[in-house]
Amino acid sequence: MHLDAKLVGTPVAELDTPVLCLELDVFQRNVAHMIHVCRQQKISWRPHAKCHKSTWIGQQLVAAGAIGLTCAKLSEAEVFAAAGISDLLIANLIVGSQKLRRLAKLTEVARPIVCVDHVRHIELLEQAMAMAGRTVRILIEVEIGMKRVGAEPQRVPELARRIADSPHLEFAGLMAYEGHLLTIHDLATKETAIRRSIGIAVECRDRLQEEGIVCGILSCAGTGSFPITSRIDGITELQAGGAIFMDAFYRQHCQIDALEFALTVLATVVGRPAKDRAIMDAGRKTLNSEICLPWIAESSHDGTLRVLSLSAEHGTVHVGRNAELQIGDRLTLIPGYADLTVCLHNQIVAVRNGIVEGVLPLETRGHLT
Ligand SMILES: Cc1ncc(COP(=O)(O)O)c(C=O)c1O
Repeated sequence: MHLDAKLVGTPVAELDTPVLCLELDVFQRNVAHMIHVCRQQKISWRPHAKCHKSTWIGQQLVAAGAIGLTCAKLSEAEVFAAAGISDLLIANLIVGSQKLRRLAKLTEVARPIVCVDHVRHIELLEQAMAMAGRTVRILIEVEIGMKRVGAEPQRVPELARRIADSPHLEFAGLMAYEGHLLTIHDLATKETAIRRSIGIAVECRDRLQEEGIVCGILSCAGTGSFPITSRIDGITELQAGGAIFMDAFYRQHCQIDALEFALTVLATVVGRPAKDRAIMDAGRKTLNSEICLPWIAESSHDGTLRVLSLSAEHGTVHVGRNAELQIGDRLTLIPGYADLTVCLHNQIVAVRNGIVEGVLPLETRGHLT
């Protein structure tokens, strides 16, 4: 955390807007909840770092008990490794000679794990690691219904054998993401669907174990599914990352109740063009609205103030009949989807009890390779 002399000690009410803020006490309670869930189920937490992009947050999560981090990109893992975090799952397929060389280099300073879902990935990784004289840990991503990446379950044993036969690759287990099931409204139906989907990966693990192939890791789950997935026998770790921030999407569409909103965007009302309409200084360059519209914290219960739409630089707010809202008033927004909001910002201002404690630079922002 940077102790920015100009900002530390500033009351939140005096921050210029729009500004992305993290309420540290709430963040710590969310982290404690995730650690508690994992301890209860005797599994590990490897939170996805794609949502926070901050080495300080990564370090806090590991200090709190996470076994390491999940990353979306090799370039994110490089930054977290340089910040002293070693056990890094890159939950992605690594393709291209530059990336393979970088991965080999990364194994010199960290213990990365990468995913494969095709024999060609295995050939390319083995070749690159052999050339560099390194080894790397591998998970097979299993297709469990999301139809994104992932090997068809019947191909998993053959891929695992191939990895086991590659001298520079170490078969570490399986991963599967149930991201297509997060928004099922009826919770009993959601649980059945997630159990069925994750069950496919668990069966793959059982088949491998029967063949004598040790499957140390079965890594699954996002914030929108962890309350269910964490209770499924066989999984060894959770990837849920956005849980540290929480947002309107997880609450409204995924029905996640046990976490609190730690991340907010503060905005200022800059226009009152009509009785029922206010304009704020936060639009799409500050907030994401693609997955879910942001909520206005001041009226999240009664809906008298509601974000109607976002254009690039402005946000349009519906003002209910009894609401008082004047030019210069401030609004606290709960991001619709924190993941796609954080990546719009250079930093997060960390606050506690209404006072700025420091600034978190988002070091992996723009790290897309
Ligand atoms: C591979 C993978 N794991 C886990 C997640 C869940 O992330 P979060 O918990 O931040 O929603 C995602 C989200 O896109 C993902 O792609």
